[in-house]
Amino acid sequence: MRVVILENASDIAVQAGNIFVELLTDKPNAVLGLATGATPVPTYKYLIDCYKQGKVSFKDAVSFNLDEYVGLDRNNVNSYYYFMMENLFNHVDMRKDKVHVPNGVAENLEEECARYDAMIEEHGGIDVQLLGIGTNGHIGFNEPSDAFSDGTYITDLAQSTIESNKIYFTNGDMPTKAITMGIGSIMKAKKIILIATGISKAKAIKAMIEGEVTPACPASILQKHDDAVIFLDKDAASLLA
Ligand code: PGA
Repeated sequence: MRVVILENASDIAVQAGNIFVELLTDKPNAVLGLATGATPVPTYKYLIDCYKQGKVSFKDAVSFNLDEYVGLDRNNVNSYYYFMMENLFNHVDMRKDKVHVPNGVAENLEEECARYDAMIEEHGGIDVQLLGIGTNGHIGFNEPSDAFSDGTYITDLAQSTIESNKIYFTNGDMPTKAITMGIGSIMKAKKIILIATGISKAKAIKAMIEGEVTPACPASILQKHDDAVIFLDKDAASLLA
């Protein structure tokens, strides 16, 4: 993987955003793999600015998000579907029927997992997958465990994830389960961009880049991807040798 250390979050937003702008310029019907959380928000703001300036269009693009909370429907303000609408899609020319987020309230969640993987395959796979990283090294909601996951599945959230994310749940309890693309699904993306900012990510970043490849740090699998680029600010990179 290629590690790029930048001055701050704005510089990361520009670098990561430009990869999507170039992708959509070369391939207007590209398949975008997108992520939620605080870290990608500046990247989405940058993409909205690029759209407003006529530098990029999403009108033929397709998107797949990494994950969704089990039990939250798309109208729930804490759902990741809602997040994507608020932070990106409502502000650009993306067709809503081309937006895919796992359905956290599907009647049969196992079927929903299989359906999600099949849909990604039908669209020819993800061209560029954007990732954040948890303080525990998770990507998507693939929490540290004994084995790398494969396709989309239902997972229990780690206590540290619950602690990090519960601040957003001012209105209702935070779910303890999620539906997430698996490590196998993420690794199939043709290109992967992982972005991380702030000192709270420094330990996970060190383990991901300098540690062994282990499901105890799920992000470490990216060492084995042919085209993964990691954009860090100085704080996130501060423990690297
Ligand atoms: P954050 O989450 O961007 O809100 O820090 C990242 C993640 O948990 O993957």
